Amino acid sequence: MDRSAKRGTARRRARRSALGFGAIHFAIRDWLGLVTEDQRRSRQNARARLRRIRNRMRRGGISPTNSLARRIVAFNLIGLGLLVAGVLYLNQFRSGLIDQRTQSLETQGRIIAVAVAEAAGIGPSGTRFDPVRANLVLKRLVEPTGVRAQIYDRGGRLTGDTRSLLRGAGEIETQPLPPPGERRDESPLSVVERWYQQVLRFFTGSPPVYRETPLSGLAQEPEVFTALRGGVARWERINSEGELIVSVTVPIQRFKAVLGVLMLSTEGGDIDDIVRAERMAILQVFLFALAISLALSVLLANTIAKPIRRLAEAAEAGGAQEARPINPQRIRFPDLTARTDEIGYLSSALRRMTEALYDRIDAIESFAADVAHEIKNPLTSLRSAVETLRIAKTPEMQARLLAVIQNDVGRLDRLVTDISNASRLDAELTREEMESFDIVELIRAIAEMNAAAAAERDARVEVAEGGAESLPVKGLQGRIGQVLQNLVGNALSFTPARGVVRISAEPRAAGVRVVVEDEGPGVPDANVATIFERFYSERPDHEAFGDHSGLGLSISRQIVEAHGGSIWAENIRPYDQPKAPPTGARFIFELPL
Ligand SMILES: Nc1ncnc2c1ncn2[C@@H]1O[C@H](COP(=O)(O)OP(=O)(O)OP(=O)(O)O)[C@@H](O)[C@H]1O
Ligand SMILES: [Mg+2]
Repeated sequence: MDRSAKRGTARRRARRSALGFGAIHFAIRDWLGLVTEDQRRSRQNARARLRRIRNRMRRGGISPTNSLARRIVAFNLIGLGLLVAGVLYLNQFRSGLIDQRTQSLETQGRIIAVAVAEAAGIGPSGTRFDPVRANLVLKRLVEPTGVRAQIYDRGGRLTGDTRSLLRGAGEIETQPLPPPGERRDESPLSVVERWYQQVLRFFTGSPPVYRETPLSGLAQEPEVFTALRGGVARWERINSEGELIVSVTVPIQRFKAVLGVLMLSTEGGDIDDIVRAERMAILQVFLFALAISLALSVLLANTIAKPIRRLAEAAEAGGAQEARPINPQRIRFPDLTARTDEIGYLSSALRRMTEALYDRIDAIESFAADVAHEIKNPLTSLRSAVETLRIAKTPEMQARLLAVIQNDVGRLDRLVTDISNASRLDAELTREEMESFDIVELIRAIAEMNAAAAAERDARVEVAEGGAESLPVKGLQGRIGQVLQNLVGNALSFTPARGVVRISAEPRAAGVRVVVEDEGPGVPDANVATIFERFYSERPDHEAFGDHSGLGLSISRQIVEAHGGSIWAENIRPYDQPKAPPTGARFIFELPL
């Protein structure tokens, strides 16, 4: 790698480092002492340039921090957020779980109630109720299920509670509540969860608080009395901790007589734990999806917003140069044409556009240079004639000089007229309307127009026989007439006395072809292409010098090409003698349909 290429890479790297993650990389390299003075300077330049561009963008109403990228990220995240909020709000899992739980509690309750009634119903036809036997059965049946069961007698008094039964008969009931601080899960996610729960309860309303009934006390919950009247009730409460308790009350019946009530409840926190775990899982998935989505958005933003910004920066840099054109460099859009998407397309379109613009500028510049050069010749001659005139002694010499001056002025006049016509041509070509016309008719008219000029030299202009009677063409009739007139005019001035200029037109697969042939000396083989250049003029000896500007063929080519066609010249030679001197020149142009 040579020095300048190396410096280019360093500069690129420095530029990148001023733009994003590279800044960290650069800082680390700097800290490790790996950054050279040159790189540090390039980086500073890049940063300054970036600042200037950002300022300009800001003035142009564009957010400097990549607003497109930000929007992409935001839209992706909004979608994700809505999804998660929807899942959490609908909260179907929770209500489904509660339903399922009450359902199974009820089934369980009905079975246990029958068993208790069977075992504890005593007396004539089992209409009396023995709480001790009932408790025994209850203990054995409920123990494995993990739910809490209570039995109320016919008067609605609590006669048995598995909480105390399972602890052993006679033991005083104690609420096994650990100190709050120990039980509470303080991880950030569960804090969020609790907070969420509160918000949810605020909107949906919370169930009433569960009231404990002491042993032998009267039932606190109205559902117990519903069951005493023979109905089954399902209900929800929250305990003092805010945890959900789901209960069912089932009548204990024997032969239609209600002996008591069985109440089954879930332990506080059972359902909440499951729901919490579920919601945690959703949150975890959300966080994971968030990270992925964020990464993808940034990636997406980088593939869309960043290249667009690079293109805009290139244009901005070009614009800044135009404003202060010291050492201007050509605007170069980054080559992203390897991309097959819209950005690749945009990049190639911008590149093509700048190329076309520069071609146009070049053409205008070279035209101006050519014009200056062409005008210089007659002007020089004019000046020397005027200077000599002052010292000219004899009247003959003065007359000769005056003739030269007149000739030069005429030449200048002609040049300026031709040049001004030629320079307007481009604009006029785009302004004029294309129309359909018959080219054969046009050829006949041109031949007639030149008949007199031909007769002066005993020559003829012929329209080839046997061709099509009419050939419609779409284009600018006046301009195509100008092309034909240029070609026929040239041909006539080169064709010898009694010579013939032949014009023919024939249809081609993709349009029409028009040929103008003469019997003159032809074009030197080396010049068949150069004669189409501006100001190229090499006229036969018999014509006065300076009568021609050498613009005829170049204008003709411009017109034909503006029609999407092409024009060229060749020499006419016998088929079998390709080396023989030409017997004339042939000018051909083709126009598409
Ligand atoms: N039919 C022809 N035979 C031989 N040479 C030709 C013929 N037509 C054009 N040329 C050569 O091409 C040159 C350029 O032609 P072009 O029509 O562009 O300019 P010009 O005729 O010299 O000037 P202008 O057309 O401006 O009066 C001519 O000067 C001549 O040397
Ligand atoms: Mg000419």
